[in-house]
Amino acid sequence: MPVKPPRKWGAYFARLLSERRGQSDTDFITMLANAEVRGEGLPAEIAIAFLRQLMNAAGDTTYRATGNLIVGLLTNPDQLRAVQADRSLVSQAVEEALRWEAPLQIQPRLTVADVEIANVIIPADHKVDLVMGSANRDPGRHRDPDQFNIFRAKSRHLAFGYGPHLCLGQHLARMEMELALNLLLDFLPNLRLDPQKISPKITGLNARAPDAIHVLFDPPRNARPGK
Ligand code: HEM
Repeated sequence: MPVKPPRKWGAYFARLLSERRGQSDTDFITMLANAEVRGEGLPAEIAIAFLRQLMNAAGDTTYRATGNLIVGLLTNPDQLRAVQADRSLVSQAVEEALRWEAPLQIQPRLTVADVEIANVIIPADHKVDLVMGSANRDPGRHRDPDQFNIFRAKSRHLAFGYGPHLCLGQHLARMEMELALNLLLDFLPNLRLDPQKISPKITGLNARAPDAIHVLFDPPRNARPGK
């Protein structure tokens, strides 16, 4: 039986918002429920639409990016060992994974004026797909761009977009990815790819992630999370 999550999300968010309206907690949903613009509360349908957008923008992207990060490290065991030995490398591993395999590869835009790029005129009122994933592998910007390399010189990437719509949650996303990787390394010693299974493949355009990652690890020990 197919499920219909959109309707259910709408009802779920409506209930959450009404429960939290008038409360004084400082969590995000309570703040949204009580938000006012010039003395007027936010209409429920706008708050619900925003929360729906956030489910995709925040959740869908971050778990996929974390999967891509894990593939990058597992398929480059020397780099995985380096991160295991020195957790200060975690943040540059996250940054490199975002450059190497951004979960959102394409951002669509509509031109509002004629523009010329590399001797090509794009007329106004045309749909354009900006392939940020390609820019992230531009050999003019990144040496050996197809290679996952956490030691590459710091270089800017476009995984979080560019301009006025730059990702609002980028710092949270980085923090979540760092935490997830630290926990994984804490709890699953000797994490490695299972050589008996197919290697992970990262696929997709705007939901780019591995379908599956088959791993082996030693029995978990009682680790204290986070470093
Ligand atoms: C690795 C994780 C993430 C990636 C790769 C990512 C990527 C992006 C990209 C490329 C855009 C720009 C879209 C465009 O220009 O059309 C964007 C926008 C946005 N992101 Fe993220 N994002 C991530 C995580 C998050 C998180 C955790 C949140 C919130 C908690 C979030 C909230 C948003 C919002 C609200 C926008 C729209 C900003 C605007 O239109 O002004 N994102 N994100």
